[in-house]
Amino acid sequence: MYGLVADAYLPSLRTLTRTALIAMPNSNSAGQIYLYGLLQAYEAEIAGEVYFTVLANVFPDSGQYEKLMRLAEVEHRTSTILQPLIERHRLKPLDRAALAARGENWVKQRAFRQWHDLMKNMTTRYPGFIKKFKILEAEGPDEDKRALNVLVRHEAALLAFAEQEMTGAADSLSPIRDFLSDTRSASRRA
Ligand SMILES: [Fe+2]
Repeated sequence: MYGLVADAYLPSLRTLTRTALIAMPNSNSAGQIYLYGLLQAYEAEIAGEVYFTVLANVFPDSGQYEKLMRLAEVEHRTSTILQPLIERHRLKPLDRAALAARGENWVKQRAFRQWHDLMKNMTTRYPGFIKKFKILEAEGPDEDKRALNVLVRHEAALLAFAEQEMTGAADSLSPIRDFLSDTRSASRRA
């Protein structure tokens, strides 16, 4: 358990400056690396919701605005479902304002002005996230696995959406709608 997670997250862990989870008692380093991966994923979902919401105003075309707001909803749903894991493991995420600033910075740094460039970025980068999240799912404790599977599926839905946009599919939002529909009850339980 946790071996693959170590491979995926050790470079980040080396630069870790916040030590809330490192200070957890009775936790081995492999477990800490898993928790670090979980915390990173959770924080990225909150920042990601802001990212897509801000982007929606960069792409004021009504169809694109609507699509980006649905992607923001996917991120929100995912963070909601991960929240109980964060509490169970007593992790200390950055506060919402700091994570919102992170999402806004992503928009500034990437400076997308063309829809195609944004979709291309998603199809290029998201397979790597799926791989990372699958490792978390495989190596996380049993009680975390259902939420971790949602984490994997949300990224797969975002990727499928972007791929369909790239090919000009008529209903690119269908994987997003499916994800939101499939996870609605899980988010109520969270
Ligand atoms: Fe996400």
